Amino acid sequence: MTTNVGIDKIGFYAPNYYVDMTDLAEARHEDPNKYLIGIGQNRQAVIPPTQDVVTMAANAADSILTPEDKEKISLVLFGTESGIDNSKSAAVYLMNLIGVNNQAKAVELKQACFGATAGIDLAKNYLMNHPDEKALVIGADVARYGIKTPGEVTQGGGAVVMLLSQNPRILVLDTHDAHLTRDIMDFWRPNYRTEALVDGKYSEQVYLDFFTDTFHRYLTKTGFKMGDFEALIFHLPFTKMGVKALRTVLPEADERQQEVLKANFDDSRVYAREVGNLYTGSLYLSLLSLLETGKLSAGDRVGLFSYGSGAEGEFYSGVLVPNYQDQLNKIQRLDELNNRTKLSVQDYETMFMDQLPTDGSDRILDLAGDHATFVLAGLKDQQRQYRKQT
Ligand code: HMG
Repeated sequence: MTTNVGIDKIGFYAPNYYVDMTDLAEARHEDPNKYLIGIGQNRQAVIPPTQDVVTMAANAADSILTPEDKEKISLVLFGTESGIDNSKSAAVYLMNLIGVNNQAKAVELKQACFGATAGIDLAKNYLMNHPDEKALVIGADVARYGIKTPGEVTQGGGAVVMLLSQNPRILVLDTHDAHLTRDIMDFWRPNYRTEALVDGKYSEQVYLDFFTDTFHRYLTKTGFKMGDFEALIFHLPFTKMGVKALRTVLPEADERQQEVLKANFDDSRVYAREVGNLYTGSLYLSLLSLLETGKLSAGDRVGLFSYGSGAEGEFYSGVLVPNYQDQLNKIQRLDELNNRTKLSVQDYETMFMDQLPTDGSDRILDLAGDHATFVLAGLKDQQRQYRKQT
């Protein structure tokens, strides 16, 4: 049932700024418990102008890749719906920044939050026929709905980067998946907008429909039973969404397994509560959170539900490899999230509105507040000026 391909390394980056959800609730005249419990978010990453999907991905990749990895990567698949160029892919910008060998193929994949999962699918099949090579799959986005909109509490951003290979050291992928695509308007962003348009309640309902459909078809297709899964994890546009999805299938589990699934789901949402929606990277942040804050053992099977509005959904699974913990960064991650700079609601609004010019003019950005390794220094002659800081 399993392939011999899967996730060998996983890295994450979120910018250094956040806004607190209690502060935001008070500023919007809402009960803080609506945001903290009803939506399930504590804090939200705020993206400074000096970070975009390319720099965030580069910072995440830099935390996991060795020079040997960069030589062996022959495929770079960049899932994003926050592209910075309509022609040249973010993958090519990224390869140059982090120094991946130039014989690798590099493309950008777009289908709302589904892009990174499409990357995993493509990389899985590719690596089965390329045993000595590696693939880099990225999910990086900036989730923007707008100030004082209902979606505001579900914003966020960041990047998750995964290195896939044969004989992976974290998660071996199972052979099958169950997939669903439907042309619907639950969430979209026309080219002229920097903020998404959304039919919020409808999007939640479609998400749940896609989950129950793909999950049950996956069980039929594979012969797996509820009891075969130690954890079910989800794309988390806000963490309560995963609670709602899990609840739809919990009655199919026995009492003991219900408790296990609930506890493991809680571990999978620790990081998302702190950064918000990563769009394409969100499901993989759930995976990272589960692995780094949870207590799973080698041999445990994890089920993953990916959802991208518009809409495309997929359920698939993988099995944890012995000593997978050695590949992770357990202690540092929560410290890093806790040590970010807190912004007042007013400063968050100012940063949110501070967008790069769209009329072709130059702009030099102040890098003083951004100590990340990779930053965007500005726009010059209609080209992005990326920098590596030492
Ligand atoms: P809203 O209308 O402001 O919220 O928008 P609400 O009034 O429905 O309240 C939210 C929850 O808080 C409710 O719980 C309330 O009962 C509860 P629920 O009924 O949902 O279980 N609540 C409280 N709880 C405790 N104490 C209180 C309290 N008050 C209320 N005092 C909505 C919420 C999510 C619709 C909005 O934020 C939104 O539109 N977000 C963006 C859309 C979204 O995230 N959709 C998710 C599914 S689509 C998806 O995942 C794809 C996506 O990632 C994009 C992509 O694919 O690229 C979005």
